[in-house]
Amino acid sequence: MARALEDRAVIVTGAARGLGRAYAIAAAREGAAVVVADVDAAGAAAVASEIAVGGGYAVSHGASVSAAGTGEALVQLCRDAFGTVDGLINNAGVLSPGLATEQDAATIRNTIDTNVTGVINCGTAAMRAMSGRGGAIVNIISGALLGSDRLALYGATKAAVLGLTYGWALEGANLGVRVNALAPLAWTDMSNEMGGDDAGKGGAPDAIAPAAVYLLSDRSAALNGQVMRADGTQLALMAPPAFAYTVPGRDWTLDAIDEAIAGRLAVGVTPVGLGAGAAAQQV
Ligand SMILES: NC(=O)c1ccc[n+]([C@@H]2O[C@H](COP(=O)([O-])OP(=O)(O)OC[C@H]3O[C@@H](n4cnc5c(N)ncnc54)[C@H](O)[C@@H]3O)[C@@H](O)[C@H]2O)c1
Repeated sequence: MARALEDRAVIVTGAARGLGRAYAIAAAREGAAVVVADVDAAGAAAVASEIAVGGGYAVSHGASVSAAGTGEALVQLCRDAFGTVDGLINNAGVLSPGLATEQDAATIRNTIDTNVTGVINCGTAAMRAMSGRGGAIVNIISGALLGSDRLALYGATKAAVLGLTYGWALEGANLGVRVNALAPLAWTDMSNEMGGDDAGKGGAPDAIAPAAVYLLSDRSAALNGQVMRADGTQLALMAPPAFAYTVPGRDWTLDAIDEAIAGRLAVGVTPVGLGAGAAAQQV
């Protein structure tokens, strides 16, 4: 059977270690030529060498995704090295755990710059490069967007990427570019940053990599604007957030709202921290 990414050229950000490294290696095994991108230039070069030693094609690039121009530079490198751009895994990210009341301005800025601006920089550059020719973008999000202890900032950045995924999927449908999201769980340096019990940290990144390769490849041709969850114990698709419980009416006084919340909308009131369900405590 033909390999899923034969003759494709793809960019993987944050690919020097952890999940990004596993995605890059898995994509190369499925036939892709890979741009291994990371702010850790030496780490990215090492992963590109590892791919080459294994018989694959890879080049590396060392820069922060949040720097203006990094998206275009990655696209240019991919074109120069491999002639085309067919896909992007928007994976680079930082965790920045901590209580919302205690995080300093520099941490807040860096987390948003990396996890949101970085994703926009690379995603829009890839979208422009693939427009009209076809391609796929996989945005890496997290179950923490549903609400997770000491991860409000991180979760908010991932919620932003969920919004980007839904919006880009609509725009991409007119350009031939599919945009989906993946919420992984695997034991990496990032999971170790959270500390705590090893039991909840997930399994090996290699076990999650096929989900990212699947969303990048034509095997997922029917999927656009979808969110896949792969945590090493199950595979799931997330239902889009929706206004699930409604009461018709135009004039909403305080008393009328009170009545609706206690009445027909009572079913929609979830205890704090439980609205997110089982994924709430996971990065
Ligand atoms: N590990 C998990 O269980 C888990 C769960 C949900 C989501 N994620 C997401 O998966 C992605 C990878 O996570 P991981 O666990 O492999 O983390 P990791 O910390 O092990 O690796 C992250 C990589 O991103 C790179 N990076 C960080 N900032 C960068 C920047 N500004 N520009 C370029 N590269 C940068 C790092 O150098 C590193 O190589 C992240 O987006 C993370 O939020 C991970």
